[in-house]
Amino acid sequence: MRSTPSPGTLRLLKALLFLIALLPASALILATFGVAGFSLGANPIEELLHNAGKWGLRFLLLTLAITPLRRVTGLNWLIRFRRMLGLFAFFYVSTHFLIYALLDQRLEMGAIVEDIIERPYITLGITALIMLIPLALTSTNAMMRRLGRRWQPLHRLIYPAALLGVWHFWWQVKEDIREPLVYAIILAILLGFRIWWRRNRGQSRAHKE
Ligand code: HEM
Repeated sequence: MRSTPSPGTLRLLKALLFLIALLPASALILATFGVAGFSLGANPIEELLHNAGKWGLRFLLLTLAITPLRRVTGLNWLIRFRRMLGLFAFFYVSTHFLIYALLDQRLEMGAIVEDIIERPYITLGITALIMLIPLALTSTNAMMRRLGRRWQPLHRLIYPAALLGVWHFWWQVKEDIREPLVYAIILAILLGFRIWWRRNRGQSRAHKE
């Protein structure tokens, strides 16, 4: 059994992770105002939109990486960081959506609805975002207690949400699929690990019986 860091160390690590997770947002804010050498380049709205979307996806994958990491390393306390990573995923994806709706579409509801219906990659993106909303809303300890056994099945929505997020990325690239391919491979490894783990655990239980 590996030792768990003291409550004080865990609090410090959490605070550190919080600050690190805010770095991409801070860089985007600095770039928006052209401060400290940061800049959004020739196409600022696209730059903001793409950056927030990618960070949303990265945090989703980081959230999904916690369980395999715990199992491989035996560092069970890593679970303490999962909620924060998931909430940051939601924060960046929501920001991505807000940039799209407010800056790209200038809040023209007709155009937004038309996009959601007629552009399949947007349909995938909005479906993924909608799936993440109940997860964010039920992430508190109080909601965990209230939902009891129903909490875990509900939170499995993160799997289809991440799949749709990667698919959404893949679908909107024009030619070069290398980048979404990297995200797809990482997601396949993270989900594949879970399937492998369940099968193995099932087999070792059957052996014991
Ligand atoms: C879990 C949800 C989502 C994730 C993980 C996600 C992620 C991404 C990523 C990684 C990109 C590509 C960035 C790049 O090419 O550098 C992207 C692009 C984009 N996303 Fe999302 N997104 C999500 C939801 C949404 C939603 C809800 C909308 C709008 C309703 C949306 C609208 C767009 C648009 C307009 C683009 C740019 C397409 C282009 O430039 O041609 N996304 N998204």
